[in-house]
Amino acid sequence: MAREPLLREIVSEVLGEDYARRIWKRIDIIGDIVVIRKPFDVEQSVFRKVGEALLERIPYVRSVWLSVSGVEGVYRLRDLIHLAGEKRTETLYVEHGCRFKLDITKVYVSLRLSYEHVRVAELVGDGESLLNMYAGAGFFSIHAACRRNIEAAYSIDINPHAFHYMVVNTRLNGVEDRVVPVYGEAYSTTLRMFRRSVDRVLMPLPEKALEHLPAAVAALKDQGWIHVYVHVSARGQREAIEKAKRLVSQRLEAYARWFWFKGARVVRTVGPREYQVVVDVYVEPRHSISKLK
Ligand SMILES: C[S@@+](CC[C@H](N)C(=O)[O-])C[C@H]1O[C@@H](n2cnc3c(N)ncnc32)[C@H](O)[C@@H]1O
Repeated sequence: MAREPLLREIVSEVLGEDYARRIWKRIDIIGDIVVIRKPFDVEQSVFRKVGEALLERIPYVRSVWLSVSGVEGVYRLRDLIHLAGEKRTETLYVEHGCRFKLDITKVYVSLRLSYEHVRVAELVGDGESLLNMYAGAGFFSIHAACRRNIEAAYSIDINPHAFHYMVVNTRLNGVEDRVVPVYGEAYSTTLRMFRRSVDRVLMPLPEKALEHLPAAVAALKDQGWIHVYVHVSARGQREAIEKAKRLVSQRLEAYARWFWFKGARVVRTVGPREYQVVVDVYVEPRHSISKLK
C-alpha cells in the first residue's frame, strides 16, 4: 500500500476516523524515524498507541517521536518526546536520490521543502557558483551539486551540528569538491567572504531573509539570481505572492540598479492565512553596495 493511505489507515484503526483525518498528514517519515507533529488540540497520551502501531506495521521504521512544539530558536528545531521503538534520533534520509545523514533533534529538516530543494537545483546553470546563506544539513547545495555541473556551492550555517552534517553529507554524496560548508553567521560571513563573488544566492530562512537581503545583493557578481523566502499573511495564495513580491521590491530598491521577478510560488501554508512564499529575482547590484557594512 502507498505510504499515505497506510498512515491514515493505521491511525484510523488505533484512534478512529476523526483522529485519523486530523493526524495522518502530520506524520513524517524521515529515514527510519517517524515524527508526528502534535496538533495543539489532541492530548499527548493518545499518541503512544499510534507510535507502537506505526512501529509494528511499517517494517523499516525503528523509532517514533512526537513533536510538541513548532520550529523554534535560531537553529529552527522542534521539541521531541519519545513514543516508541529505539531511542535514537540520528538517521539516513534519502531525498530525490541524494542521501542526508542528520539528527532530528540537532538540525532542521522538513519534508515539505523536498520539492523546493529540487526545483531550485534544476534552475542552476552549468559553471555557476552559489551561496546558500542558511544551508542546514546541506539540502539545497547538495541537490544542486548532484544535478548540475556547478563551480561551487558555499554553504553557511550558524549551527555547529548543521556544519558537521554538511561535511558528512557532502562526502556521502561525493560532492565534497564543490560543496563548501562554512560555519558562521550568514550576514557578517557573506559580507566578509563573498562580496561580488557568486552567480546565485539562496535565502531559505523567512525570519531573516529580508533583513539580510542587502548582503545577498553584495555577494552577486555583476548580476545574478536571488531566491528569497518570506512569510506573509494573506487571504489566499495569489495575494500572498503579490505581497511577497512587494516586500522584496521595497527592500531591493535601495541596493539594486534594477531587478526582475522571474517567478514566485507558495512553498507551503504555515498557519491560518499565513504562507511561506519564495521569490526568484534577477538582480543587478548598485555600485554603492560595495560600501555596505
Ligand atoms: C529553515 S532552516 C533551512 C535549512 C536548509 N536550507 C533546508 O532546506 O532544510 C534555516 C537554517 O538557518 C540557520 N540559521 C539561522 N540563523 C542563521 C544565521 N543568522 N546565519 C546562518 N545560519 C542561520 C539555522 O541553523 C537553520 O539550519
